[in-house]
Amino acid sequence: MEIHVVQGDIIKIETEVLALGIFQGVQTPEGAAGAVDRTLDGMLFRLFKDGDFHGEAGETFLLRTENRLPAKRILLIGLGERDSFDLERARNIGAKAVQAASRFKELTTIVHGAGIGGLEPEAAAQACVEGSLLGKYRFDLYAEDRSKQNQIESLRIVEFDTEKIKPMRFGADRGQKVSEAVYLARDLANEPGEALPPVELAERARLMAEHYHLRFEALDEKELEREKLHGILGVARGSDHAPRLIVLEHNPKDAKHPIVLVGKGVTFDSGGISIKPREGMEAMKYDMAGAAAVIGALQAVAGLDLPLHVIGLIPAVENLPSGKAIKPGDIIRYRNGKTIEVVNTDAEGRLILADALLYAARFQPKVVVDLATLTGACVTALGKEAAGLFSNDTKLTHHLKSAAEATGERVWELPLYEGYKKLLKSEIASFKNSVMAPGRTGPAGAAVGALFLKEFVSYPWAHLDIAGMAWDLDKAYCPAGASGYGVRLLIEFLRRFDQNPL
Ligand code: BES
Ligand code: ZN
Ligand code: ZN
Repeated sequence: MEIHVVQGDIIKIETEVLALGIFQGVQTPEGAAGAVDRTLDGMLFRLFKDGDFHGEAGETFLLRTENRLPAKRILLIGLGERDSFDLERARNIGAKAVQAASRFKELTTIVHGAGIGGLEPEAAAQACVEGSLLGKYRFDLYAEDRSKQNQIESLRIVEFDTEKIKPMRFGADRGQKVSEAVYLARDLANEPGEALPPVELAERARLMAEHYHLRFEALDEKELEREKLHGILGVARGSDHAPRLIVLEHNPKDAKHPIVLVGKGVTFDSGGISIKPREGMEAMKYDMAGAAAVIGALQAVAGLDLPLHVIGLIPAVENLPSGKAIKPGDIIRYRNGKTIEVVNTDAEGRLILADALLYAARFQPKVVVDLATLTGACVTALGKEAAGLFSNDTKLTHHLKSAAEATGERVWELPLYEGYKKLLKSEIASFKNSVMAPGRTGPAGAAVGALFLKEFVSYPWAHLDIAGMAWDLDKAYCPAGASGYGVRLLIEFLRRFDQNPL
C-alpha cells in the first residue's frame, strides 16, 4: 500500500472516501468535521442529533456527498470517549476505517487524535498507519478467491497544519516500515509447518537479510555438533527436517557489545514422544512465532537503520516423534557442562533456547531478550491481554514495560522466585526439563520455564512468554491467525534503549 502525508484542506480534497473521526457524544461537529458539516449544510449535525451516529469507538457510517464536496464519500468513524483516547484506540480506528472502505482503491484520512485528541502528531501518524496496514492484512496465500481481499492501494493522510507535516511524515514512514516487518512475521507464523521447516525458515531469513543488507548465517548439523549445541540437535532428532541455528546481524557502527534477540523457532510442535492431544494440534505451526518476531524485528531495525548493534538468534527445529526421537529419560549435556534430564519431550522450547542463550554469550551482549511460545500455563495466567515478562534486570524490565504500553503489545511481569527451582530437581542430572505432577505439568508452569532458561544466562536478560499473544488476538488491527506480536514491542524497546542504555 502506498502512503502519503499531504498538507491540505479536507474540504478541497478529491478522493473516493474521506475518513473522519468523531468523538462520542459530540453534538456540534468541530475542527475538520465542523468544516465538512458546513459544506454539507449541517448534515453531520442532524445525523448526530437524530441518533444515526453516536461516535462509539469503531462505529462507522458511510455517506455520499453528492457533489457538495470534492470527496465522493465521507466515512464517519467513531473515536469513542475523548478522555480515554490513546494510541491503541488510534490503531484500532485506523484498522476499522480500512476495513469499512475495503471495496475502494484509495482512502484519505485525517490523523485521528492529533487534533483535539491531543496526541503527538508523530506518534499519532505512526499509529494511524500501523492500524491501517495491520488491519488490512490477510493471510491469503492458500485462499481460493484472492480477489476478495481488501482493495485499498493507497492511503493519503491530510493535515492542515504545516508544522505537523514533518513529524507526521516521520511517524508515517516508521509506521509503514514497522508494519511491513509485522507482515513478514505474520506470514511466517501463518505458514503451515510443512511449508516452513527449519531449512526453509532459514532461507526466508536469508532472503530478507540479503534485501536489507544484514549479515546472515545458519549453522547446519555439522556446525551445531561442533558448537556442542546438543539441545537443538536432540529435539530435532525425531524429525526428517534438519535443524538450523539462524544468525542475523545489524552492526552499523562496528560496536562491540550487541543487543541479542532470541526467538523460539519450533516450526511444528507435536510434543514429540510426549505427544500432544489431537485437538488443536494444528495450531502448533505457530510455535515459531518468537522466531518470526525476531526476523521481523531485524528487518525493521535494518529498514529504519537504527544506530544499534543488534543480533537475532533463532534455534529452529521440528518436534516430532519417530524411532530416532529423543525419549523421556534421555539426558542432554549442554556446552556449559549442565546436564538436563528430559522428562517431557513437549517442553522442547527451553531445550533449544538453552543452546541459543549459551551461544549468545559469545557476542558479549549488553542485553538479551528472548521471545518464545513457551508455555500453555502463561496463556492460563494472562490470556490474550499480555505476554509474561521475566527478567533479571530492573532497567531492562522498565524499558520493556514502557515500550509495551506505548505499542499496545502489553507485558506483565511474573516472578523468577528461586523457590520454584526445586520443582526441577533431578536425581541424576543438573535439572529436569519439566515438572510432572500426576496428569498435569505442575504448578507455576510459566515461571518454571523461565527459571529453567535463567540457568543458561550470564548477562542482563528478559524472557517474554508469548504463547497467548502470538495467535488470534481480538483486535481490529490483528485479523485472525498470527498477530506478529513482538515486532513493534522490540522496535520501540530498541528506540528507548538507544536513548537511554542500561
Ligand atoms: N509450544 C508449547 C507451548 C504452547 C502452548 C504454545 C499453547 C502456544 C500455545 C510448548 O512447547 C509446550 O508444549 N509446553 C508445555 C510445557 C510443559 C510440558 C512443561 C505446556 O505448556 O504444556
Ligand atoms: Zn512443546
Ligand atoms: Zn513448543
